[in-house]
Formats: sequence, structure tokens, C-alpha cells
Amino acid sequence: MRNIRVAVVGAGPAGIYAADILTKEHENAEVDVLDRLPAPYGLVRYGVAPDHPRIKEIIRALGRVLANERIRFLGNVEFGVDLKLADLHLHYDAVIVATGAAADRPLEIPGIDLPGSHGAADFVSWYAGHPDVPRDWALEAESVAVIGAGNVALDVARMLAKPADEQLTTEIADNVHRGLKANKAKDVHVFARRGPAQARFSPMELRELAHSPSVDVLLDEEGFQVDEASQKTISSNKGVRLVVDTLLKYLEASPTGASHRIHIHLCQNPVALLGDGKVEAIRTERTELDGTGHASGTGEYVDTPVQAVYRAVGYLSSDLPDLPFDHAAGVIPNEAGRVLGLDGQAVPGVYATGWIKRGPVGLIGHTKSDAAETIRSLLADLDGIAAPEHDDRDAILEHLTDRAVDFTTHDDWVRLDAHEISLGEAAGRERIKVVPREEMIAAARGE
Ligand SMILES: Cc1cc2nc3c(=O)[nH]c(=O)nc-3n(C[C@H](O)[C@H](O)[C@H](O)COP(=O)(O)OP(=O)(O)OC[C@H]3O[C@@H](n4cnc5c(N)ncnc54)[C@H](O)[C@@H]3O)c2cc1C
Ligand SMILES: NC(=O)c1ccc[n+]([C@@H]2O[C@H](COP(=O)([O-])OP(=O)(O)OC[C@H]3O[C@@H](n4cnc5c(N)ncnc54)[C@H](OP(=O)(O)O)[C@@H]3O)[C@@H](O)[C@H]2O)c1
Repeated sequence: MRNIRVAVVGAGPAGIYAADILTKEHENAEVDVLDRLPAPYGLVRYGVAPDHPRIKEIIRALGRVLANERIRFLGNVEFGVDLKLADLHLHYDAVIVATGAAADRPLEIPGIDLPGSHGAADFVSWYAGHPDVPRDWALEAESVAVIGAGNVALDVARMLAKPADEQLTTEIADNVHRGLKANKAKDVHVFARRGPAQARFSPMELRELAHSPSVDVLLDEEGFQVDEASQKTISSNKGVRLVVDTLLKYLEASPTGASHRIHIHLCQNPVALLGDGKVEAIRTERTELDGTGHASGTGEYVDTPVQAVYRAVGYLSSDLPDLPFDHAAGVIPNEAGRVLGLDGQAVPGVYATGWIKRGPVGLIGHTKSDAAETIRSLLADLDGIAAPEHDDRDAILEHLTDRAVDFTTHDDWVRLDAHEISLGEAAGRERIKVVPREEMIAAARGE
């Protein structure tokens, strides 16, 4: 097997799994995994909620991949800014794009731009300590609405309803803990536009809502509709059955007098945010399932007073310089991971994997099978891919240095990781995340 060098753009799980599978399948493959952030792991570090420590096992596994000497991590390198596609072609046989998704899908309803209306992705980035978002988040609202019936909606509702001190053992950054401590929310209303069997919650995440002794989870009876299609799904899909069972428990639960409440409203479609200069209420239209699992409006509207709204209606990938992008689907057009140009033909040596390949749906584990498919395509194409101009593995490092790109390496990440863990130890916590980019880089360099 000839030597090959591959650049993976994006050090989230999809990119790291791709590097792992490639180095296992091809004994002479060397991979550089680039990321615009100084730290790896993408949404596993900057999306997964801080009170989900079981994910740490996945981080350990991803960390072992990055420790492979045939794989190099090059952080703080932004594709399209610090390196263009043409630069990568000069240094690598192939490029795998794994840039994921970071933004909120828009929700076009009247009032959505009022102050107090937020995208869930922005809030998630704040509480996960992303370096590129503001440090402060005003949590003044006592009643809050969360739009959407997916796991991000659950994360946001839980983070808003659960008292800050219950988060203190986790890895949250100090500014986030301070922000959550000042949170005034007492009632969090989650609005799903369809019924219990159409919610996209995972059973475990839904059960977890009620784990905090300070939070009552209550379900509004009115929207609990089960149509013929729902019945079929419930009997054929164990996950849906578990979700519906949990929702039934919430329906039967009586308030315990807990200090905070999460109210789940099914079959209520948000149609407008109301308010004079700021969010004062959310207007929803009651919906009716039509027998096929779809819902249509009934013309009956409900106004719920809230002072803040978070829309958790899905993430959205961004397009990248010099690469095709399907704006309607929000993905890089591809066939089994082979990136397709405007003519529908595969762009030689360019591949995609993870959320940028198939859209922002699915768990971390799904990015592994994704990566396996993309690597199969890449290996099948190898004979037709031209070798790059530079055959020295370190030429790319010189290129970055010449351009004054302050890139971080795996050793740097190991130092930053140890630094965050030691900050946590001193405070009896798992880790305290370092947030500002320059402080991350300084800690990574041991400064
Ligand atoms: C809020 C939230 C919570 C979640 N919680 C869980 C959970 O608890 N369990 C679970 O299994 N799944 C969870 N998921 C799903 C999981 O995070 C995704 O399945 C997974 O992260 C997708 O992986 P990815 O590598 O495609 O993208 P990402 O994780 O988004 O990684 C993409 C990487 O590309 C980098 N990048 C982007 N643009 C550039 C550029 N121009 N140049 C260089 N680098 C770039 C980014 O910095 C990032 O590091 C959650 C998702 C969200 C949104
Ligand atoms: N702990 C975890 O394991 C975890 C945590 C977070 C995220 N994730 C995963 O990450 C992926 C993304 O999660 P997500 O929550 O962003 O997306 P998601 O699972 O696709 O859920 C999006 C929700 O938004 C609703 N929605 C979309 N457009 C809407 C509109 N115009 N009006 C009202 N509601 C609208 C959808 O309803 P319809 O179904 O009616 O369209 C759906 O309920 C998922 O696969 C999720 O499982 C996992």
C-alpha cells in the first residue's frame, strides 16, 4: 500500500472516527485532524450538556485515537481562512470535511427577533463555554418557553430549570456557573407541535428531566393525542414506547411543590412571539393529529406569558469556501461520502463525513458508521487520486508557521486538558473549562 496523507477538517467525533478507521484500514496512512478551535471533540466538548458525565467515556476513547502517532491534531486552524482547499491539495492526497453544524435553524414566525428570543445553539455554546460567544447570558425570565421536542430542547429545559448548584460538580466554566446562579426561571414550558409518539426525545433524556429534586415535570393533558399512526409506531418501536410511557407518568404526576417546574405541552404549534419591544408571551395553535402522525392547526390559539423563548428546532451546518453546498438540505452534497460538484460528479480527493455529510441528526455513535462509509469510498478511489506536490509530512507545519498561524498540537491539548482538570480538583469539581481562546492557548503552551 502506498503512503497516503489525509487532512480531516473538523476534530469532532466524525473527524476523529474517520482518522481512526483510516489508520486502521490503511497501514501507511497518516492523518492530520484540523480544527478551528484550539481543543478537539466538537460538540462533544461544546454541545453535550455538562451534567452528562457518562459521555466522558467517549471522550477518553476519542483521546486515545488522537494519541496515535500517525494522527496529528492541529488546532486553532480555520479551514477557508488559515488554509484553503488548494493548500490542502498541495499537502494531502485527500481531504475529509467533518465540520459538523453549529448554528440554529431559523424559525420564521412573527416576533422571533424580539429581545428575549434566542436560538438554542447560542445558549448551548454559552453554557458549554465556547470561546467564540459572549461570556454573559442574562437569565432574568421567570417563565420561559422552549420550542421543539428533540433532545436539545430537553437539554435547554433542564439547564434552565435545574438549580445551578446541582451543576457545580460538573465541568462548567466559572462564568457559566455565575450566570446560572443568577437564573430566575421557575417555570419552563416545552412546546411540541405534534403528539407523544412523534416527539424526538430519547427515553433516557426524557426520564432524566425528573431526576432533579428541585424540578416537577408536568404534562398538559390536552395535547396527549395518539392517532392510528402513533399506535403503530408505539407497538413497533421500543424507543417510542418508552418515551410515551414516560410522558404518561408525567401526565399522571401531581406537583410536589418543587421550587421549579417543567411543563410539557404536546400538539401546540408556536405561531408567534408577542410583546412590546421584548418577549412577553408565546402564541401557540393547538394541533390535531391527522391519523398519519402529521398535525394540522385547529384554529384555537393559546397565549402563554413568558419573558424568554429558546427555539430548539434543529441545528444548521454552514457552507465552506471552495466547496459545494446544498443550502436546502444544509449539507455538502455527496454520495457515500464522495463530495459531488455542481455537475453531479465526484470532486477528486474530497470527502465528507458526520453532520455536514448527512444533516444535524443523530448521536455521537452514528458518526462512526458514517465515517466507515466515507473511508470505504476513499480507499476504493485511491488508485485514481494523484499524490500531492509536497511529500514531507512537516511541510504543512512550516506553511502554517510561515503564515503566522498559532496552531496547537496534541501535546498542547494534553496540557490544556490537564490544566482544566487541575483547576477542577482544586475546587472539588471534575474540571473547570477555560473559555477565552487566548487563555486556552496560553494554558496549552504551559504559560
Ligand atoms: C446540544 C447538543 C447536545 C448533544 N448531546 C449529545 C449526547 O449527549 N449524546 C450523543 O450521543 N450525542 C449528542 N449530540 C449529538 C452529537 O453531538 C453529534 O452527533 C456529533 O457531535 C456530530 O459530530 P460531527 O463531528 O459531525 O460534528 P461536530 O461535533 O459539530 O464537530 C465539528 C468540528 O468541526 C470544526 N469546524 C467547523 N468549521 C470548521 C472550519 N472552517 N475549520 C476547521 N474546523 C472547523 C468545529 O470546531 C468542530 O470541532 C448532541 C448534539 C447537540 C447539538
Ligand atoms: N443527550 C443526547 O443524547 C442528545 C442531546 C442533544 C442532542 N442530541 C441529538 O442531536 C440531534 C439534534 O437534536 P435536535 O433536538 O436539535 O433536533 P431534532 O431531534 O431534529 O428535534 C427538533 C425538534 O424541533 C421541532 N421543530 C422543527 N421545526 C419546527 C417548527 N417550525 N416549529 C415547531 N417545532 C419544530 C421538531 O418537530 P417535528 O418532529 O414535528 O419536525 C422536533 O421536535 C438529535 O439526533 C438528537 O438526538 C442528543
